[in-house]
Amino acid sequence: MPDLNLILKKIEPSPEEKTRVENLAKQLIQIINQKAQREGIPAEAILVGSVAKGTRLAGKADVDIFITFPLSCSEGYIKKKGLKLGHHAIKKLGNGYEERYASHPYVTGFINGYEVDFVPCYAITEGRELKSAVDRTVLHTRYITAHLKANQKGEVLLLKRFMQVVGCYGSEFKVGGFPGYLAELLILEYETFMGVLEQAAHEWRPGYQVDLEAYGTASQFNDPLVVVDPVDEKRNVAAALTLQKMAEFVVAASRYLDNPSPDYFFRKDKKIDTKTLKEEFLSRGTVNLVLTSPAPEIPEDALYPQIRKTEHSLMKILKRSGFRVWGSDSVSYQGRILIILELEVNLLPPFKKHYGPQIWNRVHSRSFQEKYHPHCWLEDDTWVALVKRGHTTAESLLKYVISPDGIHHLRTGRHLKDQLINGYQLKALPEFLEEEKPDQKVLAWLYHYLHKDELPGDIY
Ligand code: CTP
Ligand code: MG
Repeated sequence: MPDLNLILKKIEPSPEEKTRVENLAKQLIQIINQKAQREGIPAEAILVGSVAKGTRLAGKADVDIFITFPLSCSEGYIKKKGLKLGHHAIKKLGNGYEERYASHPYVTGFINGYEVDFVPCYAITEGRELKSAVDRTVLHTRYITAHLKANQKGEVLLLKRFMQVVGCYGSEFKVGGFPGYLAELLILEYETFMGVLEQAAHEWRPGYQVDLEAYGTASQFNDPLVVVDPVDEKRNVAAALTLQKMAEFVVAASRYLDNPSPDYFFRKDKKIDTKTLKEEFLSRGTVNLVLTSPAPEIPEDALYPQIRKTEHSLMKILKRSGFRVWGSDSVSYQGRILIILELEVNLLPPFKKHYGPQIWNRVHSRSFQEKYHPHCWLEDDTWVALVKRGHTTAESLLKYVISPDGIHHLRTGRHLKDQLINGYQLKALPEFLEEEKPDQKVLAWLYHYLHKDELPGDIY
């Protein structure tokens, strides 16, 4: 059993690191509030998120500052003025920024090694006043600050770190896992890190409900895990958690309880060797294809649903055309999209069996024969015909569905379509490895595709 206190010492920020972030946040807030006052903008910046709650992991670079406006302001106004105030603070202290629009506009500043999000929102005091999803955040910060006991902050850090290393942390689409606020609520419900693991390992099943404030609204949600937001009875905090990530967490929790090891908190970097990886893929005897394409310049949280949609649509088309698909995965990395598709075989016969009507439907039976004679026969009382395949190899099928003529078969998401048609490359995996000489991050992604049972950590 590892000494959790010892682990905690390594994953919590040092007192100096804490002071440094807190001072930076204070400075930024002051800059914004003074500017707002000078210009007569009724805005107030406040610190939210894990820095404000004292639940930030060491080395985590993100700082969340929300710029709150009275409910009487229009959405256009708070967006314009909020972003302007954010830019002002970044100009004063930072070196660079990125405007990010996921569901809500905000600006991220790169300041002294931190990524500071400046998010315009409404100042609300109760969940039912909220106008947009981000308005809840101020209430979350207040709720956690009021309810989480000082000694439970460490429990939150252990849980967050564990979730990170087992690949389940973060509600962004790329992961589909547990957001930080959910980790905090689970600690409130079950008291300790070990308490959460015990419950997850032994009690959780799809539809499991947690309702800290006993609102009684949990049954309204149809998600794998339901945790009613204590500040908004109409919101499930676990809405973004996929069944896959919930299941992975349950298995990791139960394995940790059976065999607690510090490896669950500290991932060792593994050097991946291209030659070994290639041999491993070849020894599976399957066909592995890597599709790459330039990525459109949109935020990750807008991009990932489109990548996954494309990946799933490719799988579906391959399956429908008679190819057995073993699996697939996708990732966005350095301005590119990569999709791996693993198939049982690449080549199918030039003909396929096509099932027709039963002979008892006399009309259909006649027209089937007229269409397929002499290449049709009966199996019991059902017509079967031999039909020429459009594409006998997976590669030619894929090339067709990514061409202007065939793209209507594929569901890509709107930003990916043109990028794919104009810039895609399709290679067999050995060829991809030899020609592109991918770096460690891409190799780690491929390695993890083969070794799903190993702890992924934060590999990509
Ligand atoms: N938030 C939310 N639902 C999400 C993601 C975020 O309600 N799916 C809110 C939470 O109130 C959260 C805040 O936005 O506290 C900031 O988000 P984020 O930085 O992702 O979470 P933190 O709590 O700050 O945790 P971390 O240490 O990972 O930054
Ligand atoms: Mg944060």
